[in-house]
Amino acid sequence: MPVQLKTADEIAAMRVAGRLAAEVLDYVTPHVRPGVSTQALNDLCHAYMIEVQGTVPAPLNYAPPGYKPFPRSVCTSVNHQVCHGIPGERVLRAGDILNIDVTVIKDGFHGDTSRMFYVGEPAIQARRLVDVTYEAMWLGIAQVRPGAMLGDLGHAIQSHAEKHGYSIVREFCGHGIGRKFHEDPQILHYGKPGTGLRLEPGMIFTVEPMINAGRPAIRELADGWTIVTKDHSLSAQWEHTVLVTENGHEILTQSAGTPSPPAVVS
Ligand code: MF3
Ligand code: CO
Ligand code: CO
Repeated sequence: MPVQLKTADEIAAMRVAGRLAAEVLDYVTPHVRPGVSTQALNDLCHAYMIEVQGTVPAPLNYAPPGYKPFPRSVCTSVNHQVCHGIPGERVLRAGDILNIDVTVIKDGFHGDTSRMFYVGEPAIQARRLVDVTYEAMWLGIAQVRPGAMLGDLGHAIQSHAEKHGYSIVREFCGHGIGRKFHEDPQILHYGKPGTGLRLEPGMIFTVEPMINAGRPAIRELADGWTIVTKDHSLSAQWEHTVLVTENGHEILTQSAGTPSPPAVVS
């Protein structure tokens, strides 16, 4: 499938969906603390989406080819879980790190964003991994402008992670997004400058690097969804949905509570 360029109307709808996805994260933030279960966080997000926003949680029953339907409304990935963690009875403890990944559908359009959360006070190594992953996402986004190539973006992310001794997960990538949850193009979080697809105004895709403190190898748990690091090292991920504009980019998944850009890009 060729990469679809969004019309002005589609972009307007994607702005709304993106903001709403980010607002779910704002809403759930004060609830992330020791003693809360990932199921409780899921249920809070679900109720907020349905009852307050009038959005549809895209993960619920999402079943790409080869997968069974995802049984919850958000993904919660704790510590060495890389992505696609299924909310359940696990109770968060002080020192855990957690990714909550929210995708809403509003008027047929998807907004997809995730953030990392600290449960209580993080260990210094955990904070460093989360910070470097945040910087890596932003350095990737900073490459986004017409004429840039996807390899430029991947290289910016990969080189920042590897400079800090971390590794990039290669099996999962960012993606085009719109009326479909996952569209072309694939956004690799590694690569060589000057290679890959050339960016054009109107493209919308996610940037969502998964970075491991240890080795890059991952495996899938028996639940058919949860991805973990093989070496049990910590993993972090951040995600924004981004539009290529005439002179650069616009981040669509912004809200009042969006964390500020890191010093490396400002
Ligand atoms: N939100 C994830 C992404 O960023 C996809 C989750 S698929 C699910 O692409 F089924 F696990 F929700
Ligand atoms: Co995504
Ligand atoms: Co996501």
